[in-house]
Amino acid sequence: MFSDCSRHAWALTAFSGPDSEGSDPHQLCCSSSLHEQEEKMGYLYHMRLSDDVLLDVMARFQAEMVKGLGRDTNPTATVKMLPSFVRSLPDGSEKGDFLAVDLGGSQFRALEVKVFNDGRQSSQLESKFYPTPKEVIQGSGAELFSYVADCLSDFMESRNLKHKKLPLGFTFSFPCKQTELEEGVLLSWTKHFKARGVQGTDVASSLRKALQKHKDIDVDVLAMVNDTVGTMMTCGYDDPRCEVGLIIGTGTNACYMEEMRHIDLVEGDEGRMCINTEWGAFGDDGALDDLRTEFDRELDLGSLNPGKQLFEKMISSLYLGELVRLILLKMTKEGLLFNGKVSAALLTKGKIEMKHVSAMEKYKEGLSNTKEILTELNLFPSEDDCIAVQHVCTIVSFRSANLCAAALAAILTRLRENKKLLRLRTTVGIDGGLYKTHPQYPKRLHKVVRRLVPNCDVRFLLSQSGSAKGAAMVTAVAYRLAAQRKQIDAVLAPFVLSLETLRDVKNKMRTELEYGLKRETQDRATVKMLPTYVCGTPDGTEKGKYLALDLGGTNFRVLLVKIRSGRRRSVRMYNKIFAIPLEIMQGTGEELFDHIVQCIADFLEYMGIKGARLPLGFTFSFPCRQASIDKGTLVGWTKGFKATDCEGEDVVDMLREAIRRRNEFDLDIVAVVNDTVGTMMTCGYEDPNCEIGLIAGTGSNVCYMEDMKNIEIVEGNEGKMCINTEWGGFGDNGCIDNIRTKYDKEVDEGSLNIKAKVSDQKSIPRILFSSFSFSFSRVLQETVKELAPRCDVTFMLSEDGSGKGAALITAVAKRLHNIGQK
Ligand code: BG6
Ligand code: GLC
Repeated sequence: MFSDCSRHAWALTAFSGPDSEGSDPHQLCCSSSLHEQEEKMGYLYHMRLSDDVLLDVMARFQAEMVKGLGRDTNPTATVKMLPSFVRSLPDGSEKGDFLAVDLGGSQFRALEVKVFNDGRQSSQLESKFYPTPKEVIQGSGAELFSYVADCLSDFMESRNLKHKKLPLGFTFSFPCKQTELEEGVLLSWTKHFKARGVQGTDVASSLRKALQKHKDIDVDVLAMVNDTVGTMMTCGYDDPRCEVGLIIGTGTNACYMEEMRHIDLVEGDEGRMCINTEWGAFGDDGALDDLRTEFDRELDLGSLNPGKQLFEKMISSLYLGELVRLILLKMTKEGLLFNGKVSAALLTKGKIEMKHVSAMEKYKEGLSNTKEILTELNLFPSEDDCIAVQHVCTIVSFRSANLCAAALAAILTRLRENKKLLRLRTTVGIDGGLYKTHPQYPKRLHKVVRRLVPNCDVRFLLSQSGSAKGAAMVTAVAYRLAAQRKQIDAVLAPFVLSLETLRDVKNKMRTELEYGLKRETQDRATVKMLPTYVCGTPDGTEKGKYLALDLGGTNFRVLLVKIRSGRRRSVRMYNKIFAIPLEIMQGTGEELFDHIVQCIADFLEYMGIKGARLPLGFTFSFPCRQASIDKGTLVGWTKGFKATDCEGEDVVDMLREAIRRRNEFDLDIVAVVNDTVGTMMTCGYEDPNCEIGLIAGTGSNVCYMEDMKNIEIVEGNEGKMCINTEWGGFGDNGCIDNIRTKYDKEVDEGSLNIKAKVSDQKSIPRILFSSFSFSFSRVLQETVKELAPRCDVTFMLSEDGSGKGAALITAVAKRLHNIGQK
């Protein structure tokens, strides 16, 4: 009876753009009288959006995204662009058994998701729907979460899961500010939810609290995701190209993968993170006022959240039926429908719902559905009335699809530009009742998107299993990371030292230092407290040219140091680094010292100073018992050195002999010093208060200026002498066994495999090393302050290494030597 629509004034033209092809029956019918009718009712005409308008909306939305992402502009942005802390799409490694709760769409459900990874990816989903009565979703927050927990507990009971400890992913389809995956503060309720006392609080922790009241279940809320994010991840499991999640249901919203470097609100520039745009709020600052009609304004005023979610209110299923009702009411009052007779039902808010709009727009049965629906509303529609009402529905749902397409086109363009591509091929994961059940909606949406962004090849992928599968994917990753974190914490626990333990270590060290200084205990002491015969720090009068050797750190270096005193006081250094091959480090002593002399020869040659007999200071970073400043007997090798026939020998003699063997040049070896002493002297040249030298490098050691009266093994009581503590030996008598871990023991036993073992748990080494190097000096300084509160310590980094210090010592020793000779 309604088959020939061209007979009727209310037949439709294409609503957007010139393209009137396609299978949308409503688009095919054309009538010029339609325009006239519509123009008479400006309000309907105003709802038709041309491609030019849509391109303009797209540009406006692009600007909103930029505003939401910027640190300074975000606070006033309406489109919040919320970081989701989801950094990657599913990669197929996800597996396990997860619970999910999906709250905020038209249906609330609890789910069990099993993800398999046995060669081929697959998943299994069991779920149960629960009602969400108005008293619950608009009551108190505590009641809402205890209801959610009750439903989950019931679900676990019905699936016989109560005995299991399971991780849970929480799909919560409202705008939440997240600072990590497992928490989210609700910014504002949207759609039909309005529970008291929830806005501004962490929703995940409220759910956790409610779950704790159920003593018979053990659920770990590990991840919270928006439904858009869940949808993108669900679809991403099947199509790795999926990088956009779109919801067109009770509400509307989209998320997409943004480059980290564009997300000001999250630290780091590497990789991507999913951004929940919360595009429903687009226009809340008036940005769409020119497009909004009197019906949009009326609908907004009667909503739960006036002035909020204005874009959503032009698009999503919670509002479209009501928009249609408001338009029909106005038309009836103007006498354009139902002979001007309004029914009580038509006057009632919420009487026309989305399901009615969908039914009325159905191909073939649409008109008869319309008649039936209007009759149920106690209206008495004529044939023309039915066509007119159907037309209104189409205008409203067409506008919805157009607006959605414009915002989606903006996201697609952003993705394409981020990737610097001329053409983008991508997949959009979609869910939501409006998209899924409206007969024409998907086709309209796809078509307009393709027209607005002709340089994007878009696949629209309907999420078959809702957003929960995606939430489980996110939870799987969070679960893996949490398990890893736990393992790491367990491994690292013995490395954490309490203040009390550190005080104990300090006291023990104090005892050992004293043992080392006393004549009768010195022999047995593990901390050797070696006198260095360096009795003062530089006084600025040092000058001349010196050679220095620096052996025992990461590099072996030979240096030429030129010291000037007086007004032109300065130190200039020239140095060359030489390698010491392992076979030399662990060969014979003769080979080692011959190699050293060979390096010196190279250096002298290189500097063009072979003939000069320069005084030399030898930084030798191993424990040496000294009888004078130029005599040092090697107590024992440490670190990677093991050359034979050296221990118990005077290293200065060994060097002299090697020079003699080579018989090519002569050097005046004036001083042998430990690297700690060289470092103290280097810093002492800049800051006369410097009286401690500390090395934390290949090895670790400390020297300091001790009162002569405390050094029992050296004659004399006047003044001070620098003591090389050789504190590396601390604990060799077992006094700190209580803080040595099994790893320390393994290292000690010579196994070099600790790193390989730990790295079995993929990310440990990175975490260990990055945090270690980053905070070492801070931790050192803070701990010293804590343990020695009465000492005001300045930590000064030796920029020039210990070679400069060795040269300074040589200068002083040379001066004293010369005075002595005179
Ligand atoms: C469901 C998702 O399929 O779609 C929900 O699982 C989402 O997370 C919902 O909120 C959106 O559609 P509607 O129509 O239920 O609001
Ligand atoms: C509303 C919510 C948003 C959600 C969307 C779709 O816009 O604010 O978080 O994604 O509805 O459910």
